[in-house]
Amino acid sequence: MPFKRKALAKEPAPKKVLKEEPKKDLDEEGEGKSGKTFELLRGFRDILPEDQGRWNLVRDTIRSIAESYSFDRIDLPILERSDLFQRTIGKGTDIVEKEMYVFTDPSNRSVALRPEATASAARAYISHGMIERPQPVKMWYLGPMFRHDRPQAGRYRQFYQAGFESFGVAEPIVDAQLIVIGHQIFKSLGLDVKVEINSIGTSECRAAYLTELVAYFRQHRNKLSEDDKRRLQKNPLRMLDSKEEVTRELLQSAPQILDWLDETSKEHFMKVLEFLEEVEVSYQLNPYLVRGLDYYSHTVFEFTLQEDVGDLSQSALGGGGRYDGLVEILGGRPTPACGFALGIERIVRALEAKGVNPPERPPALVFFAQLGDAARRVGLKLFEEFRQAGVSVAEAFGKNALKGQLEAANRMGVRLTLILGQKEVLDGTIIIRDMESGAQEIVDVKKVVGLVKKKLLHEEGVALQSQTPVVEA
Ligand code: HAM
Repeated sequence: MPFKRKALAKEPAPKKVLKEEPKKDLDEEGEGKSGKTFELLRGFRDILPEDQGRWNLVRDTIRSIAESYSFDRIDLPILERSDLFQRTIGKGTDIVEKEMYVFTDPSNRSVALRPEATASAARAYISHGMIERPQPVKMWYLGPMFRHDRPQAGRYRQFYQAGFESFGVAEPIVDAQLIVIGHQIFKSLGLDVKVEINSIGTSECRAAYLTELVAYFRQHRNKLSEDDKRRLQKNPLRMLDSKEEVTRELLQSAPQILDWLDETSKEHFMKVLEFLEEVEVSYQLNPYLVRGLDYYSHTVFEFTLQEDVGDLSQSALGGGGRYDGLVEILGGRPTPACGFALGIERIVRALEAKGVNPPERPPALVFFAQLGDAARRVGLKLFEEFRQAGVSVAEAFGKNALKGQLEAANRMGVRLTLILGQKEVLDGTIIIRDMESGAQEIVDVKKVVGLVKKKLLHEEGVALQSQTPVVEA
């Protein structure tokens, strides 16, 4: 069209516009969304299909050990009233002061994404009148927790914990059994952990000890960091797990809590240690172990890796202790209790470092190749029959030609391929192809499930999938 071309030629040349980089919509942490794609929030992650093998191994091991020790599963809400955590974990703790995701919900209530689940378990124990049930009430859970901590190796803002809580019995055997359970989980997973243990006694003996500890650190106040000065004033027990080098050095000559335990606390602790010796769980006394939550009394413990797994060597894979005062703090009747929680990401990371990589699920042994819609219809029914028989069947519905489907079957490494074309549909038959020898056999479609099962069982080492569902988080 010459007219148009001429008209265009008269127009001034359009200004060259430089293509701008899509602007990032950044928040204060430098995260954002660029263009149309969204990035993950810092400290949050996707657990991809290829990682699920390790996750399932950990989840299944925990579930099976929980059940064999007669712990019942409980699922607790992710969102709770924020004061549930403030009151129990403690106002002066890092979790409550800096790390809680607290916000006002549409009903104008202050709520929090749970940073841990012990407080929720205690709330559930009270609100469902579990004190009336035979004691101890033993519950376990597995699910995500949220802490707005500084993300680093093995530290996330959403992370998964599996926890064990035992309510209603004050005997030291309970503490010991929980430690044994934790230890057993690691052992079953092939991880060599050490148990660090301490006692922080009752609130009374702790009060006397703290007076002494504060007096000691006051003499050295000018050497302390601003953070530790604040700790000393707000929550002096936290001085014991300070990361500051000066404080760690001062701690060497500081009074130790074990020397301040009253007779009952001492006896309780000695018994826990004796029980552990009895079952040959080796432990290491750590007089500085106090844990980052305020609800503990008597025994506190942590599991750390024995082996050096680079970025994880400093972090605990799990921890817990006795919390005899917690139920009462929440308005329940005085109830002794003890528990622990394991960090699933850290355990999965340790397995990864050791090269443990179980498949997410066993690969399919059979492939279904179809030619045309009539074959697909028959296929839909067959899939269900095979599922019920415990045989997983793969397919490539995106491909129509037989050649492409057989290539896909080869790549998947299946033993047998079932081929169903229009002729077979009309005849009520189906072809079974042995992928190794290439031999083909035409069989009655009604008998194919039984025949395939027989062929698979015939081959040594082929285990049909059990239909046990895996634990879900
Ligand atoms: P906790 O020591 O705060 O205890 O957490 C238990 C475990 O969760 C830690 O040892 C660690 O493996 C994992 N964990 C904690 N924070 C993170 C994070 N930011 N990223 C990844 N993993 C993390 C409790 O939560 C208590 N409720 C345990 C308990 C149960 N005490 C009595 N009963």
